[in-house]
Amino acid sequence: MKLTPLSSEESIFSNIDSLSPDFVPKILPFRENEQKEIALALQPLLNGTSGRNLFIYGKAGVGKTHAVKRVLEELAEHGLLSIFVNCWTHAESENIIGAIAKQLSIIGDSTLEKIKARLTMPCAFVFDEIDQAKSLDFLYAILEEIKTKAVVLISNKKDFIAGIDERIRSRLLAEHIEFRDYKEDEIRAILAERRKYAFYEGTWHKEAIALLEEKTIERNDIRFGLALMKNSGLNAEREASRIVFRKHVEEALEKLS
Ligand SMILES: Nc1ncnc2c1ncn2[C@@H]1O[C@H](COP(=O)(O)OP(=O)(O)OP(=O)(O)O)[C@@H](O)[C@H]1O
Ligand SMILES: [Mg+2]
Repeated sequence: MKLTPLSSEESIFSNIDSLSPDFVPKILPFRENEQKEIALALQPLLNGTSGRNLFIYGKAGVGKTHAVKRVLEELAEHGLLSIFVNCWTHAESENIIGAIAKQLSIIGDSTLEKIKARLTMPCAFVFDEIDQAKSLDFLYAILEEIKTKAVVLISNKKDFIAGIDERIRSRLLAEHIEFRDYKEDEIRAILAERRKYAFYEGTWHKEAIALLEEKTIERNDIRFGLALMKNSGLNAEREASRIVFRKHVEEALEKLS
């Protein structure tokens, strides 16, 4: 069967945005238990008391950031206030305090005093990529100064907590939640679900799917798999192909390091 070429108005993608790194899927399969644990630790904040502090760890691309973001979105519907700071983009303590102030719409100098004054309800503070923070002075200040809260730290360094100043560790007393690696079948299922979401039905040849799965399993990184999926689709579109073939995945692989 010969397919007519894809016209410039057509696309094999039904939702290409769902393959962008910022897209947070509504459901994260295989992370239900972790999300439940996170939600349970934060729930007391909705009743006006402090939550439990968490240290979330696991390798790159195992869904830590997105699982936490989903829980925050869900609890926000019940009125949870949360602050989310990426400590890679804001590494210095003063930048982190600045990022918190900005999220609270504080104008002018950002100080912990102003943040305290602005917080009229319990707050969940999430510090993603915490191992990238240049100093933990901001964390000490938050643990000391802010009364009703929960602090969530996310890292891919399992032993990060063990290495921090004792004074912070003993104030934090974080519960550890491990995001274990996905099993091969889980990786396949996650990729299949996102493919259904991002592409029209019947647009992927089974050999292309097999190669996508094989390479994602090899790398053990869903983020890599999603980028490979997107670039393979774009390669197919560039050739006006209605189907993503194995060669489109191969071409995408050559360019993805
Ligand atoms: N269970 C899942 N279901 C659907 N998508 C997932 C799942 N786990 C991870 N992903 C997707 O994989 C990508 C990486 O996830 P995320 O950014 O949460 O990883 P991470 O653990 O925070 O990695 P890093 O340590 O590198 O920051 C995201 O696009 C996310 O949507
Ligand atoms: Mg992350």
